[in-house]
This record gives sequence, structure tokens and C-alpha cells, in this order.
Amino acid sequence: MALFKLLHILSVIIWVGGMFFAYMVLRPSAVQVLEPPLRLRLWVAVFSRFFVWVWAAVALILFTGLYMMHLYGGHTPIYVHIMLTLGVTMMAIFAHVYFAYFRKLRTHVQAEHWPEAGALLGKIRTFVGINVILGILTVCSVELGVLITH
Ligand code: HEM
Repeated sequence: MALFKLLHILSVIIWVGGMFFAYMVLRPSAVQVLEPPLRLRLWVAVFSRFFVWVWAAVALILFTGLYMMHLYGGHTPIYVHIMLTLGVTMMAIFAHVYFAYFRKLRTHVQAEHWPEAGALLGKIRTFVGINVILGILTVCSVELGVLITH
């Protein structure tokens, strides 16, 4: 259980911490320093690298989380069900960002269609913002659940 929990938490740190950095630090800095075409190119480069890590983190969180649930053997505490619900919601939002927006953003940036690319980046920003909040809420609810239950 300890190794699975370690991998689970490391993956959460990479995913939620990466989104927090992108949203709270990189986004306002890029707006301050770069003109739109360069800024959009930067985001495609950033997402292309970060999303590889997010796919790996999502796979690990799901695998280790479901395995730890299995170890509970039918007596899973309520906070784990809440975590599963919030976690799957976050994963669905990420898949939506990746398949509905990011791939189109990459195509528009390659073709230098800046207004379309800007609109897509705005949508990605909204959903990443939602996922940062859900991620922090999930960690808070888990830790509260652990505190109350054990
Ligand atoms: C999506 C499916 C997920 C499943 C099935 C799952 C399942 C689990 C299970 C069974 C545990 C062990 C609980 C215990 O020791 O009592 C755990 C621990 C934990 N999970 Fe998840 N989890 C999921 C997603 C997430 C997400 C998205 C986050 C955060 C954004 C998260 C954060 C944590 C944390 C911080 C712990 C450690 C709790 C402690 O202090 O012991 N999990 N998870």
C-alpha cells in the first residue's frame, strides 16, 4: 500500500502542481512579456511537454487509486468515493482539453491563425483553472476524510 500511495501522491503533485504553476505564474508572466503570436507558440511548446507528464500521471493515479481501493476489499471509506468522483471529473476535463482544444490549438498555431488560436487558448485557460480548483478541493477533502476516519 505504501509504495502505491507514494506513486499516487507523486503523480498528484506533478499534475496539480504543474497546473498551478502554469495558471498562476507562467500565464500572467507570458501576458506581460510576450506578444500574442510568440505567446501562443510558447503555450503549444509548454502543453506539448506538460501533457505527456499529465497522461502518465493520470494513468498512475487511476491505477494506484483503484488498486488501493481493491485493497480495502469492499469497505472503502466515503472520502475515497468522493476522491474517485472528483478525480474522474478532473480526468474527463483534461481529456476534453486535450482532444477538443489542444490539438486544434496546435494546428491553428502552425497555420498562424492567431484569432482562432487565441480563442482556443482562452477555453483551455478556463478548464485548467477549474481543474486547479478541483485538484486542491480533492486533496483537502481526502486529508479531512483521513483525519476524521483514522
Ligand atoms: C481517480 C481516481 C482515484 C482513486 C480511485 C483514488 C483512490 C485513493 C485511495 C484508495 C487512497 C488511499 C486512501 C487511504 O489511505 O485511506 C488514495 C490516497 C490519496 N489520494 Fe487518491 N484516488 C484517486 C484520485 C485522486 C486525485 C485526483 C487526487 C488529488 C488531486 C488524489 C489525492 C490523494 C491523496 C492526497 C491521498 C493520500 C491520503 C493520505 O494522506 O493518506 N487522489 N487515493
